[in-house]
Amino acid sequence: MDIERVGVAGGGLMGHGIAQVAAQAGYQVVLREVDQKRLDAALGKIEKQLARAVEKGKMEQSAADEVRGRITPTLDYGDFADRQLVIEAITEDLQLKIDLWRELDGIVTADDAVLATNTSSLAVIDQAVATKRPNRFIGLHFFNPAQVMPLLEVIRTVTTDDDAFETGLSFGQKLGKTVVSAKDKTGFIVNRLLVPYMLDAIRAYEEGVGSIEDIDTAMKGGAAHPMGPFTLLDFVGLDTTKSIADIMFDEYREKRFAAPPTLRKMVSAGYYGKKSGRGFYDYSGEQPVAVEPGL
Ligand code: 3HC
Repeated sequence: MDIERVGVAGGGLMGHGIAQVAAQAGYQVVLREVDQKRLDAALGKIEKQLARAVEKGKMEQSAADEVRGRITPTLDYGDFADRQLVIEAITEDLQLKIDLWRELDGIVTADDAVLATNTSSLAVIDQAVATKRPNRFIGLHFFNPAQVMPLLEVIRTVTTDDDAFETGLSFGQKLGKTVVSAKDKTGFIVNRLLVPYMLDAIRAYEEGVGSIEDIDTAMKGGAAHPMGPFTLLDFVGLDTTKSIADIMFDEYREKRFAAPPTLRKMVSAGYYGKKSGRGFYDYSGEQPVAVEPGL
């Protein structure tokens, strides 16, 4: 199925980036947020990224204007009626997502529209069955920052038909992403491997193997990772990581997915990482400074 019109539900960390890459690839995008403040924040981030690309000479001003012009902000899901692909990027809460799909199911008119979730850890099928068209439901899992990370995981469930799945694959290719397909198993490919790795870094720290900075430096220099595990934890968000770990532990009951005590306590304390100004690093100064969790 050829897609031209995309709807993105949620303009947060992932949603604004997804809307931007879709508009950059030539799609007409409607971006929906819950209130004007969040909508303005999402558009502000997109405009900032586009301005940066122009400044760096990576994009002409006219092209940036065209990209921005392809994004229509809205507070009203009614504007999703003519969408051919809807991507949900709202809070990682199954009930909220189910409620959203029930609402959208009555709004999106084309029976063959593809419905996609950007969930990082929930089973895709649990959302698919909330709609009357589980055959058209897929997972499209982007990585943060969506504008930069080259990968897209495309997930098919037991109910997804071939056309919906292939539409997801070709959408990813048109975005210029490297596309992999994954089964609908909690964590898919990347988080299944990445989350235990990040949790293990915390355990290594708890066991006194090395300092936060040395563990980060070691993984950057010794394994050529762009960020060490603690910088990455702060970047992804400690609350998000814990939530994914909890869902994966619940699903698999394996110790490797269990959130270590330090992570639990830091989340309770509100140390969510970069977004809250403190995680394994303190972000209040010019440069991040590693802080002992002291727990
Ligand atoms: N939004 C948009 N663009 C961004 C950005 C952002 N938040 N952050 C950086 N960029 C762009 C910059 O503009 C720059 O673009 P350019 O090459 O055109 O100039 C480019 O990315 C490189 O940025 P910087 O030079 O500022 O910094 P780095 O070279 O350190 O790269 C990084 C930043 C791309 C974030 C890199 O550190 C990285 O790849 N880190 C690992 C990120 C990662 O692993 N993400 C996956 C997390 S897991 C996940 O998302 C799954 C989910 O389910 C939890």
